[in-house]
Amino acid sequence: MTIASDTTTRPAAEAGPVTVLGLGAMGSAIARTFLDHGHPTTVWNRTAAKTAPLADAGATAAPTAAEAVAASPLVVVALLDSAAVEEVLASVGTAVSGRTLVNLTSGSPSQARANERWAREHGAAGYLDGKIMGDPPYVGTPDILFPFSGSDTAFAAHETTLRELGTVTYHGEEPGAAAVEFMAQVSPPPTSCSSATCTPCGCSAKKASTWPGSPSGSAPPWPSFRRYWARWPKRSRPVGTGRTSARSTSRRH
Ligand SMILES: NC(=O)c1ccc[n+]([C@@H]2O[C@H](COP(=O)([O-])OP(=O)(O)OC[C@H]3O[C@@H](n4cnc5c(N)ncnc54)[C@H](OP(=O)(O)O)[C@@H]3O)[C@@H](O)[C@H]2O)c1
Repeated sequence: MTIASDTTTRPAAEAGPVTVLGLGAMGSAIARTFLDHGHPTTVWNRTAAKTAPLADAGATAAPTAAEAVAASPLVVVALLDSAAVEEVLASVGTAVSGRTLVNLTSGSPSQARANERWAREHGAAGYLDGKIMGDPPYVGTPDILFPFSGSDTAFAAHETTLRELGTVTYHGEEPGAAAVEFMAQVSPPPTSCSSATCTPCGCSAKKASTWPGSPSGSAPPWPSFRRYWARWPKRSRPVGTGRTSARSTSRRH
């Protein structure tokens, strides 16, 4: 099921505590958006100096990832890749007990399922896997897309908060579904299927109708897609796009 989106604002009094692990470009934008919406926000980053601008804006900087996780019922993770997630979660351990873990780090469906297993085995209240389609400056606007999958009770409990980040869709309880959606949306059509008249697998037709507003029909219409895609060679890519880097091949496979 896909749930239509809207971006909501609420009185600060209703905004619950949130923790953000990872303060790169994306995690910092996410933490700042939560602060803007009035959430008591705890942040942690491997390089502690990156917490300073957010602390100046009202966030609490935790000295360890475990302490950051313990501070909030909702924990949002935005790290470089799945190897970083695995490393940080290992340091968090049972501090995740009773918390809802939302991982927005790029990764494969199998990595999402492994994270969900880890969260369950460590007593988390729920696990949601989210993917990000757009650039940090668009966080907090409808022009950035966040597909989610995983625990439906966790999604229901935190939906309003997650919708503060952008346009949100929910793709069901299978944890890997958001990663599948991400790959379906951002993977360029295979060269053999790039013609508008290609029909054997239907991919060109599907992508054209999936991305209304796209001038070419072969790229999503969000404003910064081209810059976003151009940066990917420097990053880990989800397994299955045919561009997987050594780092993104998780030890969990
Ligand atoms: N930026 C975008 O436009 C964009 C768009 C869509 C999706 N995403 C995805 O969002 C995620 C975050 O992206 P970003 O742009 O924020 O990346 P980034 O600016 O490169 O930041 C990477 C973050 O990961 C941390 N990190 C890396 N390795 C680590 C490790 N082994 N242990 C602990 N922390 C580690 C870094 O900590 P340090 O500061 O200590 O290095 C930093 O906080 C990625 O999965 C990316 O693919 C990004």
